[in-house]
Amino acid sequence: MIQPFFHRPTGTMTYLIASGGDAVVIDPCLDYDAATRHIGRGALEPVIASIRSQKLKLHWILETHIHADHLSGADVLRDEFQGARVAISGKITIVAETLAPLLGRESARNGPCNSRAMAKHFDRLLDDGDAIEGGRIRLKAMATPGHTPACMSYVCDAEGAVFTGDSLFMPELGTGRCDFPGGSATHLYNSIQRLYELPPHTTVYVGHTYPPDGQEPKFQTTIEAERASNTHVNAAVTLEDFIRFREARDKTLALPKLFEPSLKWNLFGALK
Ligand SMILES: [Fe+2]
Repeated sequence: MIQPFFHRPTGTMTYLIASGGDAVVIDPCLDYDAATRHIGRGALEPVIASIRSQKLKLHWILETHIHADHLSGADVLRDEFQGARVAISGKITIVAETLAPLLGRESARNGPCNSRAMAKHFDRLLDDGDAIEGGRIRLKAMATPGHTPACMSYVCDAEGAVFTGDSLFMPELGTGRCDFPGGSATHLYNSIQRLYELPPHTTVYVGHTYPPDGQEPKFQTTIEAERASNTHVNAAVTLEDFIRFREARDKTLALPKLFEPSLKWNLFGALK
């Protein structure tokens, strides 16, 4: 069973996968008030309540990437449930090295975000194709770089599902931006071609969605629907078309409101 949770302030989707008393959470989220720098657990409480009420054992907390628009609730969730571990793409070392100087930090290799600190913050760094086993729940990590170098989608065959993070949004919303450091429209296009090789009926669970006020979020579609009608990358769009479109669009986008606190928190585990 897949239970979605929507965080309206940041348009973030969190998913709880439950099977036979076991659980995995993908992309948990925290509240953050930029004016007061207050971090709140409100966004996470319904996830925690659901795990507790179903008496689930939480095995893994999976990040689809280092988010630049909201604070991750992975550490809080790990503290809440004994035995839970946090996993993310091993390519975050590239993201950390690229971003550390921009965030006023030493290089990832020598500074506060050295490999030991990184190992403490994340329990497991994933490669493409790695299996993730959480009791009865099985997922496969599928590298889908482009939005960032460290984007990972997660395929759950038993649920016929793939969690695409910011690589692929709902067909009408298209794809994630590719202008963050290390981003690449070419890589994203190629990643999406890999996603499109999944069985057509596979359900796609997206990482963000932005419904108008008062409307419920649309967060799931299929590979078939994406191939047919994704507004940025459908079956008729060439690599050259996409690069031209994506790079032009990205020039018009402002940085996310919570860019700096999100990256500091999500990469280094602290707002300083
Ligand atoms: Fe993102």
